[in-house]
Amino acid sequence: MSATNLSAAPPAVGAEHRLAITDLAFGGEGVGRIGEFVVFVPFVVPGEEVLVQITDVKRRFARARLLQVCRPSPDRVTPRCRYFGECGGCQYQHLAYERQVAVKQRQVTELLARVGGLNTVTVEPMRPCPQPYGYRNRVMLRTQWDKTCGRLHLGFLRQDSRLVVDVEECAIADPGLAQPLREARAHPPPRGGLKVLLRVLPEGWEVPWDSFFQNNAVLLPELVRVVRECLGAGPARHLVDVYCGVGFFGIELADLVDSFVGIEVDPRAIQAARANAAARGLTNGEFQAGRVEEALPALLRRSPPAATAVILDPPRTGCPPATLELLRAEGPAQLLYVSCHPATLARDLNVLSQGQVYKPLRVVPLDMFPQTQHVECVADLRRPDSPPPAAVAGAGEPRPALPTARA
Ligand SMILES: C[S@@+](CC[C@H](N)C(=O)[O-])C[C@H]1O[C@@H](n2cnc3c(N)ncnc32)[C@H](O)[C@@H]1O
Repeated sequence: MSATNLSAAPPAVGAEHRLAITDLAFGGEGVGRIGEFVVFVPFVVPGEEVLVQITDVKRRFARARLLQVCRPSPDRVTPRCRYFGECGGCQYQHLAYERQVAVKQRQVTELLARVGGLNTVTVEPMRPCPQPYGYRNRVMLRTQWDKTCGRLHLGFLRQDSRLVVDVEECAIADPGLAQPLREARAHPPPRGGLKVLLRVLPEGWEVPWDSFFQNNAVLLPELVRVVRECLGAGPARHLVDVYCGVGFFGIELADLVDSFVGIEVDPRAIQAARANAAARGLTNGEFQAGRVEEALPALLRRSPPAATAVILDPPRTGCPPATLELLRAEGPAQLLYVSCHPATLARDLNVLSQGQVYKPLRVVPLDMFPQTQHVECVADLRRPDSPPPAAVAGAGEPRPALPTARA
């Protein structure tokens, strides 16, 4: 074992080293150094001294597995789940919840600066989840035939391979999923390679079984509150809800605008969106099935840019370059980017803000995925020439109706 090595020479696979952990990178791995050479180690806490074994060496960094925590951090806590460390679903159960929130807050700030080039944007304090376990209303189980023990595994991918960890319970899943999980285990699919989706469907929303819905119902009201506050503080009278799913944001924001339109590729989600709007008696909006890439140009031309806001809630991959270029060219007054992946958010904000076409006014992170590496963010972008925002006090309240044409 080597404790000190002042060179930047790569360590050898299999070698054991004692490391001081200085940081947690986005994704959850701790950062230590052997001399100048960076080593990533999962399940550690900044400030700890740990004994690790090198598992993989690249040109610029190495990966290691944790053998022993020699000097634990006061922020280290006992993970609640017996599969933690093996299952790839959670990265942070060993970290006190307040520290998870602080770590993710800093990761978002750093990604926006490093990837987005947005050094001057102040990231607001992370909105924590009041219930950091038992919050997930949807889990996707995988099945895999284990040849060595001759039985089917039903669970989640391991953190270090494509093998499936057999699980009887999941600590971050909604308790309402415990019984469906027992049933899925009692009557598993006939063979490996199949997925089993378990969900608790949200009350008051029609959601087809395979369609998207936000997966943390506990923090969802806060997400809506933040987005309403941003839209209410802006100049928009018309809203385009891009990647609208079952119409969630368009419907939640409908009373703040004169008209809204949602676009979504999943036709069953669009049918549900129409039913969700009708169930609330909304008459100022509509939903279209189609690809954003094809439908957005016409939707943006429906209302004057100076009175239009666009909400973008894309998949983790973010928005395609052509969509970002279209938004820059058409110039709606406000963009509300809701993202579940801060790295693609940072990349897209970098494009949108080039040449000061858009300016990020607020970035609000929300911990919709406690115990995991993931984080949700809302970014409020304005055109520099858009009317100044209204005072935040009172924002988010319904607007008095204007005599404008309904969609
Ligand atoms: C993160 S979800 C957001 C859904 C919705 N905003 C909500 O809050 O429930 C992203 C949605 O984008 C849809 N989608 C993915 N690619 C698309 C595309 N090219 N055009 C239109 N919709 C797409 C997915 O089907 C999914 O419903």
